[in-house]
Amino acid sequence: MARRRIVAGNWKMNMTPSEAVALCAQLKDLVVNDEVDVVYCVPAIDIVPVVEAVKGTNVKVGAENMYFEEKGAYTGEISAAMLKDAGVEYVIIGHSERRDYFKEDDALLNKKVKKALEAGLTPILCCGESLEQREMGITLDWIRMQIKCDLQGVTAEQVASMVIAYEPIWAIGTGKTATSDQAEEVCGAIRACIAEIYDEATAEAVRIQYGGSVNGGNAKELFGKPDIDGGLVGGASLKADFGKIVNPE
Ligand code: PGA
Repeated sequence: MARRRIVAGNWKMNMTPSEAVALCAQLKDLVVNDEVDVVYCVPAIDIVPVVEAVKGTNVKVGAENMYFEEKGAYTGEISAAMLKDAGVEYVIIGHSERRDYFKEDDALLNKKVKKALEAGLTPILCCGESLEQREMGITLDWIRMQIKCDLQGVTAEQVASMVIAYEPIWAIGTGKTATSDQAEEVCGAIRACIAEIYDEATAEAVRIQYGGSVNGGNAKELFGKPDIDGGLVGGASLKADFGKIVNPE
């Protein structure tokens, strides 16, 4: 069965609630596509107004982070159940900015992945190597380790429903996209790793995105690769260009 393409915007720490609503209106007609899942992953404070703003459209809403505990004394955190209740369907877990600036490690991310799935959210699990790791020739080893750690105790059926985003750190926000061959090599290796841990059917089902300076000009070639099922898009998700990524010409 062919995998359905998924293009998700990662707004990061951009857009006030009123700006968010305006952006939804600006993009509304540009992102219409029945064959692609379109997701806006937005700052927590924008979730409620964005869920409202995209009602009746093809756009789904995602969060950029969550905490793994059920509830309680975790000042500043947001639970999976809160996201679900607010109308969120996806949640980015383990973005390199969270791993780096907020020191999120694979043991923590594994708990978040499991909690998200338990709550009925679809995790978009991020992985990716630094430039230094790529130059050392350990890219595939590094990614395989991240995937294996982050998916500990996750069932085959759950993995089949997930999204994995390969985002080379050196390509994020730098304008330096991985070539489509470089991106395909790693996305293919992620799929092979899933086949090894689980089975072929799970590997065939899981959707794998590429992220890192995706734009309207390079999306078509990247998404044309057999193991790349769409993109996780930062900078270009905040402007009309996002429409060209959902609907490459
Ligand atoms: P970018 O960010 O598209 O701005 O490179 C991608 C991401 O960090 O998800």
